[in-house]
Amino acid sequence: TVAASVPLALAYLVGALPFGYVVGRCCGVNLFAVGSGNIGATNAARVLGYRFGALVFLLDLLKGVVPVAFVVPLAETLAPGSATNLGSPDALRVGAAALAFLGHLYPVYLGFRGGKGVATGAGTVFVLAPGPGVLAIGVWVVVLFGSRIVSLASLAAVTILVSARLIGTPAAFAPAALPITLYLLIGTGLVVLKHRANIARLLAGTESRIGDFPMRDT
Ligand code: G3P
Repeated sequence: TVAASVPLALAYLVGALPFGYVVGRCCGVNLFAVGSGNIGATNAARVLGYRFGALVFLLDLLKGVVPVAFVVPLAETLAPGSATNLGSPDALRVGAAALAFLGHLYPVYLGFRGGKGVATGAGTVFVLAPGPGVLAIGVWVVVLFGSRIVSLASLAAVTILVSARLIGTPAAFAPAALPITLYLLIGTGLVVLKHRANIARLLAGTESRIGDFPMRDT
């Protein structure tokens, strides 16, 4: 329905907002051209300093939180009943999550060249499935402290997230649970795909560690 497609289109357009790229440009830096060449929080921290990294992380996280949190109220405001017409309000929320996530990965504003999806994906998961979201961030923090490698922490977190869904949810493929399960499976696949250069560096032992980043803003 039109009432459902308007908030879904907005979810993509919000997810596509390239905050890392904009923050970089404001600092006179093209993040595509330096460090890992990514426009995410890690590369912002690596190139611009930790405070800018934290800012980009927060903004990218919100791009995931806001569309999922507001898609149902917005659809219901445009046309009462539209959220449930789609099957379930959950289907609409997962649709908004997927579109915000895809917006970050493939932003229309930058010729569809985007980020790796970790912060925006985390924002969507915190609203959709807070329990698994907290578990994944716990794993992320532990691996980050253990290794000082952000990409390794990100890959471990998405692996745990999808494994917990498949192992820990007995009816993960039942119709009611299927949208979230599919989103986590496909989303994890895309995060891994976007990290293929990181995986090559991890295997070669050349991936950068956070202690090696310059401390420009401290
Ligand atoms: O979220 C992205 C992170 O896992 C890796 O970023 O800049 O090291 O490729 P980067």
